[in-house]
Amino acid sequence: MSRLPGKACLITAAASGIGRAGCELFAREGARVVAVDCDAARLHYVVAGIRATGGEARGVVADLLDPAACQRAAQEAASLLGGIDVVWNHAGMSSTRTLDALDLDDYGRCMDLNVRSAMVVTAAALPYLRRQGGGSVVLTASVAGLIGLPESPAYNAAKAAVLGLMRSLAIRHARDGIRVNAVCPGPIDTPMLQGYLGTSEGDEGKARLRRALAPVPMRRLGRPEEVAHAALWLASGDASYVTGVALPVDGGYVAG
Ligand SMILES: NC(=O)c1ccc[n+]([C@@H]2O[C@H](COP(=O)([O-])OP(=O)(O)OC[C@H]3O[C@@H](n4cnc5c(N)ncnc54)[C@H](O)[C@@H]3O)[C@@H](O)[C@H]2O)c1
Repeated sequence: MSRLPGKACLITAAASGIGRAGCELFAREGARVVAVDCDAARLHYVVAGIRATGGEARGVVADLLDPAACQRAAQEAASLLGGIDVVWNHAGMSSTRTLDALDLDDYGRCMDLNVRSAMVVTAAALPYLRRQGGGSVVLTASVAGLIGLPESPAYNAAKAAVLGLMRSLAIRHARDGIRVNAVCPGPIDTPMLQGYLGTSEGDEGKARLRRALAPVPMRRLGRPEEVAHAALWLASGDASYVTGVALPVDGGYVAG
């Protein structure tokens, strides 16, 4: 039995990594997906792949650093799908500048993409979720929302803010039948993590990977699909009494 039969789902940052895995999984589970990303070429490729295997997907190109584009993307998704049942706000970016190299533009982008885009997309989707009589919102935080990472103060602040936003929305919109939860991935094997670890091959690359895995009891990177499955559960009726939850998908990272 499919878990999101006919559900109208909007997923941001959908052209790569975890968001792409989410679009593919949600479509396999019967959802009608609108995939939002700023990378038009990759988005087209992802949407075409889903349709080629019989899934329902459309792409909306939007730079989610722009609040007007966030609003337009949600409205376009609603008009393409005839409503919205599920929103997965996955867009975000990391920042590895410490305060010794304080860069407020970098801080602003990090906050805007991780927090503001989720806030504006959700606000624009709310009337549609209410019209359906309820729905589910999933936000992508990170283990960085739950514990301190000394090299990433802006990212830490942004992901903690994502969790604050999630809890506020969960309480406020429970009465509308809208559940709001977050996934908190540990290190997941995607282009974003590869960018963070650096592209260096050989000993230096191996040492960076070892350092990244040192706090992970399972001693391996996660796969994008493993986060997508957690988001699917939160989005689906299987989690019908679950709201306000920050779910680590981290190989045991935050338990350590
Ligand atoms: N990969 C990890 O280890 C990890 C861990 C914890 C949390 N996360 C979170 O997952 C999310 C993305 O990570 P990923 O690993 O799937 O990355 P990814 O690099 O595979 O994909 C990121 C996607 O975001 C899109 N994007 C970037 N800027 C955008 C913008 N301004 N507007 C619209 N789209 C934009 C890119 O085009 C790309 O398709 C972020 O919220 C990140 O904080 C990732």
